[in-house]
Amino acid sequence: MAAEQRKVALTGIKPTGEPHLGNYIGAIRPSLELTSTYESIYFIADYHALTSIRDRVELATYTRSVAATWIALGLDPARTIFYRQSDVPEIFELSWVLSCVTAKGLMNRAHAYKAARDRNAESGATDLDAGVNMGLFNYPILMAVDILIMNTDVVPVGQDQTQHVEYAADIAGTFNHLYGDSFSLTVPKGIYPAGVSAKALPGVDGRKMSKSYRNTIPLFAPEKQLRKLVRGIVSDSTPVEGPKDPDTSAAFALYENFATPEEVKDMRARLEQGGTGWGELKNALFEAVSSWLSPLRERYDELVAPGSELDVILATGAEQARDRARPVLTGVRRAIGIATS
Ligand code: ADP
Ligand code: TRP
Repeated sequence: MAAEQRKVALTGIKPTGEPHLGNYIGAIRPSLELTSTYESIYFIADYHALTSIRDRVELATYTRSVAATWIALGLDPARTIFYRQSDVPEIFELSWVLSCVTAKGLMNRAHAYKAARDRNAESGATDLDAGVNMGLFNYPILMAVDILIMNTDVVPVGQDQTQHVEYAADIAGTFNHLYGDSFSLTVPKGIYPAGVSAKALPGVDGRKMSKSYRNTIPLFAPEKQLRKLVRGIVSDSTPVEGPKDPDTSAAFALYENFATPEEVKDMRARLEQGGTGWGELKNALFEAVSSWLSPLRERYDELVAPGSELDVILATGAEQARDRARPVLTGVRRAIGIATS
């Protein structure tokens, strides 16, 4: 029994669009790497996506494609607890309890909420809260609960999530201060992938690849579309013969992440020398990405289909997650005086 004292790593993935190459490099791959050293608990934060997605088909589709993507890319449900947030009702009960010990002022200072108010101020709106729903305002509390209810030690996320993880630690601290004589929540720490977040993967227009910029290359786009997207990556007009600076090229930045070190070295030398066009680089990039993804696509297609094994995986994960959440919720219910036995 003592051998199973591994620390818990937990992360949530918001199903707000089709997962893309940037998500893989920045989030999926680093999280999968942690599964050998940590006890891993990864989930689809579908109720977090509800703060912004209003289309029921979209929410259902993205939830399924994000889940299928993680498994096709190597998440092993026998080693990682993998579930949908909405399948764990304990999360929503704890969410109320922790709302009651969280200062509103803390939420007022949350980045996403402040950014929404700043946007309203810039556009001259008289109500700075226009368009802000309570889900967006309470988002950090729900995220804190996701983390705290699983006794999480570390949360692997991108730098943009730093404040959220700090809030979770803060909220745990407040709870422990009030009720720690009866029950304590584990105080989590964020872990951030070195280098990656500082140098985000570029999208087809050269800006950070992001669903919000509509410049992504989705991981499991059909091959024809993948080719088209790669061919469409911005490049300058240096002629084929001219020497080129690979470090100014979005296609090269992508190539560096998907080709072997030898291929990257060779391509760099050829571009710098001249005689190799951006088109050739893009063809090589397409080959590198598609030869990696092709064998995984079949598995993805199988999983994403309605009624697939994915349903069983998620149902099993939900049971495992609930088994872990229940004792924490029971401890909390006793500590606050709602449960007396
Ligand atoms: P998006 O910007 O497409 O909406 P998310 O905010 O849902 O992506 O990010 C999910 C995860 O993927 C985060 O951990 C984030 O740091 C990572 N990520 C997103 N885009 C990139 C990128 N272009 N390069 C590296 N990592 C990224
Ligand atoms: N807020 C995270 C994001 O936007 C998603 C998320 C929800 C999460 N709950 C979490 C991440 C718990 C880590 C832990 O990417």
